[in-house]
Amino acid sequence: ILTAPAVKDLAGKHVVVTAGPTVEDLDPVRYLGNRSTGKMGFAVAERAALRGAEVTLIAGPVTLATPSGVARVDVRSALDMREALWRALGDDLTKAHALVMTAAVADYRPAVTSPVKLKKLKDDKDESSLALVKNPDLLAEVGAKRDAGKAPVLVGFAVETGTAEQLVAYARGKLAQKKCDLIVANEARVAFAGDDNRATMVSASGAESLGDMSKRDLADRILDRVAEALKR
Ligand code: CTP
Ligand code: CA
Repeated sequence: ILTAPAVKDLAGKHVVVTAGPTVEDLDPVRYLGNRSTGKMGFAVAERAALRGAEVTLIAGPVTLATPSGVARVDVRSALDMREALWRALGDDLTKAHALVMTAAVADYRPAVTSPVKLKKLKDDKDESSLALVKNPDLLAEVGAKRDAGKAPVLVGFAVETGTAEQLVAYARGKLAQKKCDLIVANEARVAFAGDDNRATMVSASGAESLGDMSKRDLADRILDRVAEALKR
């Protein structure tokens, strides 16, 4: 059952959301990917639309239905996502009021993508290696371009596997390095598992640990922060 939020507190705002993994092709049949399901980003997009926002959802390869009232752009690789992201934000960042970057962007891509299927090497070695090159950090690029305190409000995610203390420490580092307003830190085994999540919200004003909740409820907590920042 969908209960529409009473307050359309994001009316007139354009919210850009990225979701899912990026996949980096090795050849026409193989790729490097990750376990992101896209559910967190789709929940943010759905709730933002229900709260009155115009929403652009940039999605990596996932099999989720597009939430109603949301404009969806499908992408595959990190470089594709970068292009779609800047198109949605505008080169001068004037086209969006907020960016919520839930996507698990691949940190590296194969140095070469073969146009034909790669064949097993005809040597007697049991080991092989793959040359990778670094992908750009999409969120950090936006953070570097944005004037401090100005729109768009920038929300990043951080997925980690360590202790709760490490989670917050890494999130603080990412908040500073990517120059964003909020980092939503979550544990990989919980975040990539299903419809629920457990997160710590890290901003300049401190760290707030939230209990277990649905991704939909977490989406609303994140959007509460976005709406609050947009009022200032
Ligand atoms: N991100 C991005 N572009 C990348 C890598 C990450 O925009 N190439 C964004 C993600 O969408 C997320 C945030 O940065 O909002 C943090 O991603 P995460 O993978 O946790 O951090 P990294 O900086 O890549 O550090 P590491 O993977 O080494 O922990
Ligand atoms: Ca990463």
